[in-house]
Amino acid sequence: MTDPAHGIEEFFRRRYDREALYVPSGRLALYLAFREWLRPGDRILVSPVNDDVVFFTVLAAGLVPVLGPLDRATGNLDPSAVDDGTCSSLKAVMTTNLYGIPDRMDLLDERCRRHGVLLIEDACQALDSRFGDRRIGQISPVAAFSLSKHVDGVGGVLCFSEGNRRLSLARRAESEIHRRSVTRRARDGVRLLFRDAADRTGARRSLSALRHRIHPAEPERAGHRMPYDLAQVLRARDGGGGLDQFNRWVRVDNPNYRTEPLSRKITRTLAQLTRFEDNRRRRLEGARKLLSVGFTPSSLRVAADTALFRVPLFVRRREQVLGHFAGQGLHLDYVYDPPLDLYAAPALAERIPSSAPALAWSRDVLPVDPLRADQFLSIMKTSSGILSPPEESG
Ligand SMILES: Cc1ncc(COP(=O)(O)O)c(C=O)c1O
Repeated sequence: MTDPAHGIEEFFRRRYDREALYVPSGRLALYLAFREWLRPGDRILVSPVNDDVVFFTVLAAGLVPVLGPLDRATGNLDPSAVDDGTCSSLKAVMTTNLYGIPDRMDLLDERCRRHGVLLIEDACQALDSRFGDRRIGQISPVAAFSLSKHVDGVGGVLCFSEGNRRLSLARRAESEIHRRSVTRRARDGVRLLFRDAADRTGARRSLSALRHRIHPAEPERAGHRMPYDLAQVLRARDGGGGLDQFNRWVRVDNPNYRTEPLSRKITRTLAQLTRFEDNRRRRLEGARKLLSVGFTPSSLRVAADTALFRVPLFVRRREQVLGHFAGQGLHLDYVYDPPLDLYAAPALAERIPSSAPALAWSRDVLPVDPLRADQFLSIMKTSSGILSPPEESG
């Protein structure tokens, strides 16, 4: 492993006071946790308002996802709506910390301890969140982070409290990570140099537009979700699962999710982490402006010093609003619609229904990056009446 990767691990070790393993992506960190702590066939409770890539990572590990119920107040799992019988049938619960809003860690932790269920923190969207006086990622035995969310870097980190797991996890990582050959590393390194030069001269955007015109990329998603062929998924599952079998779904949005990143990119990621305070300050400032627009319920409780990944605004005719902002050059992403319990075929998951109002987190949410708050607000100003509150769904 390279020195900057050690530097990233050290950053997480100090920040979370536990062991840390740097890997090529957050989804790979989650996958390694599933393989290390769980067995194929184990049932894991997952929020229905979550990334489909995460859903397929759960399937790749051979687990049975149990989807829902959703908490209207947080957009995450509602532990109080899961009965004791269901809890005791689970082997794990995975949090989401949607947009950086913390899950109800008090209730989840108590429930999981009482039933001997493993709590896994998906902290990929929660690099700066806390629950009470503890950081998200520091509460349960294992947590996964993504370095391409709050910071625009590469890779993911698995944090865990049992230090003696390190060797086993490192071995698992080694068997899943694709190393670049010397030739590929040289070629990708040169490509990166050209890309950096294009960035500096401002030519990147036009070069990328030209490339898209010559080789139009196949869209990976239809609407907000990736389409899938159920028969193919069942074949991958019956073929023993694993990342090779599930690659076509787990790779969506990041085909390099299991490829060792170039050391230059890891160095840059470490530099971004080291400067995180500045990023934090700008996120807090952006979030303050977005919250003042008045489309986020005041019942949403997030500590004032938490730098959110996205600020959720609840709006009427969300798709039309998304289209309008996209037309003005602002693409708003991380929309999870339909919820996974509608998206997943019955053969792929079990489900605990969510209340209709809770599903507003899927249907009505406009997730805005606080770092783009000024751009968002200036488009809003010139688009009178574009935002209006959603109809109550009862
Ligand atoms: C909640 C959540 N968990 C995990 C991941 C996976 O992270 P990565 O893109 O680093 O693989 C994502 C990606 O968007 C995510 O939104």
